[in-house]
Amino acid sequence: MDKLIIEGGNRLIGTVEISGAKNAVLPLMAASLLTDGQTRLTNVPKLRDIETFKKLLVHMGCEVFSDSDNRTLTICADNVTRPEAPYELVKTMRASILVLGPLVARFKRARVSLPGGCTIGARPVNLHLMGLEKMGARVSIEHGYIVVEAEKLTGAHIYLDQPTVTGTENIMLAAVYAEGETTIENAAMEPEITALASALNRMGADISGAGTDTIKITGTSELRATEHRVIYDRIEAGTFMIASAITTGNVLIKNCPIEHLDSLVAKLKEAGTEITEEEDGVRVVGQWPIRSVDIKTYPYPGFPTDMQAQIMTMMSVAGGLSVITETIFENRFMHVAELKRMGADITVDGRNAIVKGVDRLSGAPLMATDLRASASLVLAGLVADGTTIISRIYHLDRGYEDIEKKLKALGARIERIRSEERF
Ligand code: EPZ
Repeated sequence: MDKLIIEGGNRLIGTVEISGAKNAVLPLMAASLLTDGQTRLTNVPKLRDIETFKKLLVHMGCEVFSDSDNRTLTICADNVTRPEAPYELVKTMRASILVLGPLVARFKRARVSLPGGCTIGARPVNLHLMGLEKMGARVSIEHGYIVVEAEKLTGAHIYLDQPTVTGTENIMLAAVYAEGETTIENAAMEPEITALASALNRMGADISGAGTDTIKITGTSELRATEHRVIYDRIEAGTFMIASAITTGNVLIKNCPIEHLDSLVAKLKEAGTEITEEEDGVRVVGQWPIRSVDIKTYPYPGFPTDMQAQIMTMMSVAGGLSVITETIFENRFMHVAELKRMGADITVDGRNAIVKGVDRLSGAPLMATDLRASASLVLAGLVADGTTIISRIYHLDRGYEDIEKKLKALGARIERIRSEERF
């Protein structure tokens, strides 16, 4: 397995370009299952999760062509012979659950492995299944698989106990072919939801309210494959904002979807970071000392849980006391133990982490545990005294395209050691 080696202490200076959003591409790849013809996605990042989803589509019988040079993906779902997602693929990427809605909508049946939990929490999918049942599907769990059958889907009024992102997406992807109107109450409002609804409407669907907590979908009989450009990744952008802030850097972030980052920008400014919009990007200038701020994660537009680990690293070297509360996932503090091995002063009490800023972190051998925790360890390595070695960085490769190249271009001393090389 590859490792990253980082020598801390350099300020990040220069320009970085943000890639397309992982969490926007995956539902669009699922949406391609709804129609015959060629779905074309542009601005697609090169990420492990997208390779996994491609394998899943091919397993079902789709033809998938990717031109990584210009980041284009073409999917043809004319011959889906196996409406199923096997455990071997689902266990490596829980977002595979997103094929459930479109498969049931178009083929009236699906067999998808139950995604297990993951390091950050149990991650149940009960709300996904409740939505499909409300639309008339029969759902059973057989030998670790979700088996769904439906003569037809009928529009329903669905209230979500929690604003689940992929749950909202799955229900939308099913409701586009349901007879009549479906209303999703307490829907997730993430930008990726709005992007998916716009894409489905371009395909001929009739969806309104995306981006609010109430989405209405009027079913239709046929959609047509078309082209979609993937929105930029707000979490990658947020991660680079913190990379500049924590190294007292001066970084111009191009393709930065700042309109999707209000809560993070507000908190970074509260911590003393200078953030200004320029003609060709967003400039982030770190100030020292960093002011400690309190954080509470919430569904969009609240502070994103996917930025919690990264801002915790920043608070670890801030000038005071910060309380970070994780309200979304029950076990999303896996990065704390690793940060403490670098000298961070963090105490976890249930859903709260109390972070007392220290003057310096010290480099250490670390282990990545999940995607965003990995990013927080990279950020820590950038500012730590000495050498940080991060193993199991396949977690990182799931959601960040060429992160070490982008950081190196900004002046970071960071190298990837390929697994076959002795270290
Ligand atoms: C999406 O996961 C993202 N993944 C996650 O990003 C992100 O952390 C999460 O939303 C929250 O923003 C993708 O979009 C592919 P949820 P998702 O369903 O949809 C509970 C990353 O780092 N819940 O919104 O799986 C659940 O337990 C990943 O890129 C139920 O109880 O998250 C959690 O507490 C990590 N029943 C809360 O809702 C359900 O049926 C939010 O989960 C579904 C969810």
